[in-house]
Amino acid sequence: MNLPYTVVIGKGAIKELENYRMFTQRIVITEKKMAQLLKPQQYAPDAHILVFKGGEQQKQMKTVVSLAQEMMNLGVDRKSLVIAIGGGVVGDVAGFVASIYMRGIAYIHVPTTLLAMVDSSIGGKTGVDLHEAKNMLGTIYRPRAVISDLRFLLTLPKEEMRNGFAEIIKVALIKDNVLYHAIAKEKEKLLEPSHALLEGIIRRAIKIKLDIVTQDETEQGVRRLLNFGHTVGHAIEAASSYQIKHGTAVAIGMVYAAKLSQREGLLSQQSVTEILELLESMGFPTMLPTAMNKDQLIAGMMHDKKKEHQHIHAVLLKDIGNALIQELPIERWRGVL
Ligand SMILES: NC(=O)c1ccc[n+]([C@@H]2O[C@H](COP(=O)([O-])OP(=O)(O)OC[C@H]3O[C@@H](n4cnc5c(N)ncnc54)[C@H](O)[C@@H]3O)[C@@H](O)[C@H]2O)c1
Ligand SMILES: [Zn+2]
Repeated sequence: MNLPYTVVIGKGAIKELENYRMFTQRIVITEKKMAQLLKPQQYAPDAHILVFKGGEQQKQMKTVVSLAQEMMNLGVDRKSLVIAIGGGVVGDVAGFVASIYMRGIAYIHVPTTLLAMVDSSIGGKTGVDLHEAKNMLGTIYRPRAVISDLRFLLTLPKEEMRNGFAEIIKVALIKDNVLYHAIAKEKEKLLEPSHALLEGIIRRAIKIKLDIVTQDETEQGVRRLLNFGHTVGHAIEAASSYQIKHGTAVAIGMVYAAKLSQREGLLSQQSVTEILELLESMGFPTMLPTAMNKDQLIAGMMHDKKKEHQHIHAVLLKDIGNALIQELPIERWRGVL
């Protein structure tokens, strides 16, 4: 099955926007910081630029309603196009608006963070938070195109590069040992946006996610592999009241998932050590913060907090580049934390 949308990747890829002109109106949705940094009007001079404050705190229904209201005031119709320019927050909000405005209008994402390029822009998930509950309201909606201009990474803080790399290492660990070893060879040098191998690595990571979501758009099967490192990772994020960044939490989560894989007799100790060393060399912590309460963490990982001997899906590694899903009692996780 081919996904009926295009992913364009490269330096200067933003020029592709020129090919999407056959719309009654073009609306760029972006956040304040990116509006100042990128000056999006230079890429779509005809478009109305709608700007919201940005940041996870703004990923709320009220932002969606206010953007939709502005679109209505501008007379945006069914044959108009929404262009999201920004990271995952902008993409999730703008994609959600596009998916519900007049029951759905065309939408293009121009991701500007590494995380958005390799992860959030691929697969069509959109949405906003319901107060603290992340991504509670949303849709699955295919963008017409995703245009990843790698030049935009040049202004991205190193911390955000690292955040995106957690997801690249994740797809390498679950599907692609060649990609994994390419990363392991260069290590933290890859956090430099001008690194010669970065484009190839990003392309390969995008291809892996595209392949997975194409096979399973609604998360019934193989898409669950993408949750590698996320069971513990999400619990860490929540237990830290979202003070720990997603990529950092996922990196720690991947270490514990690797340890559990070893404990279950699937993965060699040598591979666990290799994974730990790579994450460490990229600047990630590889252990839970000492102050973190393990009971709270375990509670965060359970779907039904009242069931004591619950089984949950665990994404484990058989080898670097080869993952599988197993139902395991929650106590097994406790054993490695
Ligand atoms: N839809 C999905 O499938 C999916 C998948 C993963 C994550 N997400 C969502 O994505 C969001 C996180 O995305 P993110 O990490 O891109 O966060 P973000 O959009 O908040 O961007 C991170 C920071 O980088 C800044 N920034 C963006 N582009 C920049 C650039 N080119 N130069 C300098 N600064 C830049 C932003 O202003 C922000 O401060 C979360 O809300 C998460 O839930 C969605
Ligand atoms: Zn993630």
